[in-house]
Amino acid sequence: MARDKITIVGAGNVGATTTHIAATRQLADIILLDIVEGLAEGKALDIAEASPVQLYDSNIIGTRDWEKTADSNIVIITSGVPRGPGMSRDDLLTKNVQIVKGVSAKTAKYSPDSVVIVVCNPLDAMVYAAAKVTGFAKNKIMGMAGALDSARFSYFLASELDVSVEDIKCVLMGGHGDDMVPLPRFTSVSGIPVTELLDEEKIAELIERTRKGGIEVVNLLGYSAYYAPAAGVVKMADAILKDKKTVMSCCAYCDTEYDAGGYFVGVPVVLGKDGVEKIIELDLNDSEQTQFKKSLDHVKQLAAKVDKLL
Ligand code: NAI
Ligand code: 2OP
Repeated sequence: MARDKITIVGAGNVGATTTHIAATRQLADIILLDIVEGLAEGKALDIAEASPVQLYDSNIIGTRDWEKTADSNIVIITSGVPRGPGMSRDDLLTKNVQIVKGVSAKTAKYSPDSVVIVVCNPLDAMVYAAAKVTGFAKNKIMGMAGALDSARFSYFLASELDVSVEDIKCVLMGGHGDDMVPLPRFTSVSGIPVTELLDEEKIAELIERTRKGGIEVVNLLGYSAYYAPAAGVVKMADAILKDKKTVMSCCAYCDTEYDAGGYFVGVPVVLGKDGVEKIIELDLNDSEQTQFKKSLDHVKQLAAKVDKLL
């Protein structure tokens, strides 16, 4: 039986770390592609050379040649400029839309049946761009952000409560920006609503930290996070390749759902072999709806910029 094949575009921090985590999980054979000569080849070789120690069998190939990516089951797009201190994700749009445009066209040419996971920022707008350029069915194109933002919220909650991270289940919606919408009403500690365990003020503080989670790391490192983002990407790829029907938040196409009107935005979904197999529609209260609408409006503004640049 042929093994599954993942292409990871961009061998920078997120792309290389995703490759390593996916390899250790023996998720599939991996093609790591970058435009910088030697970079993908070097990272892939280094990760392959760890395999006899860490005991994984995935084939890992670094390349600049798109032909080697042909017929991938999943294409993960991490190629894009990351932000530095003082920058917002939105500041990256003009540069990254051109990168995503080129990479999406190649993806459509070489892996027309793939599921695409976009990672580069500003996330929701880059998924929108990739969808336009590839023309892929909307369930087969999505973005990774909810996995990361939920992980951050879960980690902050677990630390505050001094409980295992495994026990936290949370839902987070909206765009991958400062107005993302963590939903405490749908967040539990092994089934116990978090609202029973923490007061409103503390929850609000942890929500704010989650919203600023990206810049907190940028301010410490001088460049953006990649371990937790890569773990989030692998969780999505795992759900798709193993047809796990995993319920998680991701940036997905919503039309009538949440009255989004045809945009890609963070919502709870079921992920399986066909990509986004279902969008779960929660009955949001007035405050949650207002927050989601604000975040969606921001996503729409960025999509309008993409329309002008494509
Ligand atoms: P990085 O700078 O370490 O890596 C980006 C890589 O993309 C570089 O190696 C570069 O040579 C490559 N690249 C650029 N144009 C390319 C092209 N046309 N074809 C192939 N490769 C190309 O950046 P990092 O930290 O890996 O971040 C990548 C992107 O992901 C950034 O836009 C960042 O903001 C975003 N990001 C998004 C997250 C999310 O939650 N959605 C989380 C973390 C990062
Ligand atoms: C983050 O939230 C850079 O978007 C990325 O860390």
